[in-house]
Amino acid sequence: MDPEFETTTDLETQSLLLAAAHHDLPALRDLLRTSSPNVQDAETGFTPLHAAVAACEPDNEPKSTSESSRTVNGDTNGDGVGVNSTEGEERKNELEAAAQTIKLLFQNGAIWNDLDQNGETPGCIALRLGLKELYELFVDAGVRAELLLSRLAEYQLLGDGDDSADEEEDEDIEIIEATEATETDGTSAETSEATADPSLEFTSQDTSTTNPAYLTSPLTFSQTRLIDSSANGVMMAWETTLMERSAELLLPASNLRVLNIGHGMGIIDCIFQSSTPSSHHIVEAHPDVLAQMKENGWYDKSGVVVHEGRWQDVIPELIEKGAMFDAIYFDTFAEEYKALREFFTEYVIGLLDPTGGKDGEGGKFGFFNGMGADRQICYDVYGKIVEMDLFEAGFDIEWEDIAVPDLQEAGEWEGVRRPYWALTKYRLPTCSFIG
Ligand SMILES: C[S@@+](CC[C@H](N)C(=O)[O-])C[C@H]1O[C@@H](n2cnc3c(N)ncnc32)[C@H](O)[C@@H]1O
Repeated sequence: MDPEFETTTDLETQSLLLAAAHHDLPALRDLLRTSSPNVQDAETGFTPLHAAVAACEPDNEPKSTSESSRTVNGDTNGDGVGVNSTEGEERKNELEAAAQTIKLLFQNGAIWNDLDQNGETPGCIALRLGLKELYELFVDAGVRAELLLSRLAEYQLLGDGDDSADEEEDEDIEIIEATEATETDGTSAETSEATADPSLEFTSQDTSTTNPAYLTSPLTFSQTRLIDSSANGVMMAWETTLMERSAELLLPASNLRVLNIGHGMGIIDCIFQSSTPSSHHIVEAHPDVLAQMKENGWYDKSGVVVHEGRWQDVIPELIEKGAMFDAIYFDTFAEEYKALREFFTEYVIGLLDPTGGKDGEGGKFGFFNGMGADRQICYDVYGKIVEMDLFEAGFDIEWEDIAVPDLQEAGEWEGVRRPYWALTKYRLPTCSFIG
């Protein structure tokens, strides 16, 4: 690179980062006329968004006793804003200026999920510093970006065939996808466990990046995990508490009809069986899982119907036959979020009995909520997206938080390619028809 150009760009980057860190809106506005908001500091990886948030880190320098007690006294939510003091007022103004800076950067096209050298997005820093209001700005930006991406993808599908008209749109999609996909692996909208960053230890190709590839790869079963040929955790025993509570909420009485998509280790199906359902349909597509099901007697259990094949092929036939259920659970693997969305948007309406369930209170639908679960901000973004999509599809959703122990500390990820869960709380969704 031309050294003169390098110096100019570096100067530009530093000026932007400085203006962002000082929440200096006029200077920032001026700089953004000619510079991109997505510059990154070569050493720290900071973008202007990182700088704007990191500058709000409370000063660690020791304060006089009276000063610190004033701050602590007024600090009701841990963000350092003491409501009864001048210092608190100043802090409030600082956070407000930071929020304005972040909004200005977003208006100018700043990317919400660039990673710095510590592997943190600006939202991760806001969360770590306990800056809730700023964190929410990043969650909202993530939701907007993901919605735009999915709309553009739909638009691209509709536009297929008219090459010249689509060219510009294709370029836009590529730019967004490149930044989204390469910057944060954990933000991918997969419905199941294959969402985390690949561990460097595993150099072989990942067989479970697509559903068809996964379905033709051999699986390994053990007491505590089901693993694919690339060492991805398809299902793990630590999820048992989540399955137990899901089953309890979906099937609160005996003699009900249940449909489960994805047998895996059979954990939730065993729990469903313990409430003696009147009928229990299971859709499973992987030949190794189906072989295991045969060995374990699932084909011979009374009331159990095993449907061999992908749900995409099985479900339309079930609907045509008029099958109805009081409870439906969906937990597949190596599928993107749009598969889950397609399932509840297109099919649940034809399968779930609105007058079914315990005491006729209405059928219930649940799913494994693991999208983006290797990073809190991604989990929160997808939580909002799924809520919006479910609402649009005609569902009410009730969330229940379940504590998840430290899986890293418990050694759960040893020998697993991707630690697909890194959070302390699972948000369990139970959906029913609106009204
Ligand atoms: C995460 S596991 C399910 C775990 C299960 N909830 C349990 O309690 O053990 C996902 C299962 O979905 C199956 N699967 C993946 N894609 C599928 C598809 N398109 N149709 C049907 N089953 C699928 C996988 O083979 C796997 O058995």
